[in-house]
Amino acid sequence: EETSCPPEKTPCKDFISTLPAREGWSQGQPLIQYKKYWFRPRMLEQILQAQDAFKPRADDILLATFPKCGTTWLKALTFTVINRSRYSFSGDHPLLTCHSHRLVPFIEIAHHRAAADFLETLPSPRLIATHMPMSLLPPGTSSSACRIVYLCRDPKDALVSMWKFHNSVDPGSAMDQLDKPFSMFADGFSMYGPFWDHCLEYWRESLARPNNVLFLKYEDIKSDPVQVVTKLAEFFGVPFTEEEEKSGVGEEVVRLCSFEMLAGLQVNQVGGVDIGHKKYISNSVFFRKGEVGDWANHMSEEMAEKLDCIVQEKLKGSGLSF
Ligand code: A3P
Repeated sequence: EETSCPPEKTPCKDFISTLPAREGWSQGQPLIQYKKYWFRPRMLEQILQAQDAFKPRADDILLATFPKCGTTWLKALTFTVINRSRYSFSGDHPLLTCHSHRLVPFIEIAHHRAAADFLETLPSPRLIATHMPMSLLPPGTSSSACRIVYLCRDPKDALVSMWKFHNSVDPGSAMDQLDKPFSMFADGFSMYGPFWDHCLEYWRESLARPNNVLFLKYEDIKSDPVQVVTKLAEFFGVPFTEEEEKSGVGEEVVRLCSFEMLAGLQVNQVGGVDIGHKKYISNSVFFRKGEVGDWANHMSEEMAEKLDCIVQEKLKGSGLSF
């Protein structure tokens, strides 16, 4: 089926060709700067199209993440929390037979049809995802009553995860050493980067509108997943009842969505996720290690200190730290 971005020239492509460009992580795929953020040309095209066509609804639930910060996990947890009265935790649960990315579509990544048209067909309340920075969300999205959950992660782990992911999905442009992606990331040049601006925009919004924007860190979910799941249920206006708490519903959600559980399922080991333009990413690539601190296995202490320093400086005074 056709995706939202035909390969021929479009006004969008003409516009993109006027923007600042620099070498990207993949051969033949420069990074293009649009309003301080860097994107691959096709991704930017899809973002611009989403800005034009996506119609926000007040009851939308939007999962926003910087890439490789746990999107797949957050999708699973949220889907399971809000649908907990529809499905039991075993047997018929959709997560057992569907990859998270199929259950929760991205706004800006076309699946089988033009993304915006497809999203229009979903019943309310819609559960949808994005990697877009807050300031680039389609008009009306952030000002609507919709609820946004943002997830980020220690940038050192995000970088290592992104590097490993890049090497898996684009072996032709694989970078054996971390040096090059490290210096690009540290200068803000990565898909959807700079990392710190992406985090800061959602962070500030979560402080200004706590009922609408919930800010989470991967590390916090790892250290107390049940507490985070409980918080999610409250945030969505469907808190766990006393009975649910007693029967350990939070624990069940966490168990079903755990790395070990999901990574081991057949559906997540075979097949791929359609990312538009007839490109697929193998389902298993979204499950690598699922640990906090894997950066230490790939990054020197010196690099770690340097990145920590840069990020600290960028986040200074915001109240956000990693
Ligand atoms: P690692 O590469 O550090 O292992 P995203 O979903 O945003 O693409 O992020 C992918 C990262 O989340 C990967 O990190 C992946 O292993 C991890 N991940 C995926 N599913 C997870 C789960 N159920 N629990 C914890 N981490 C998970």
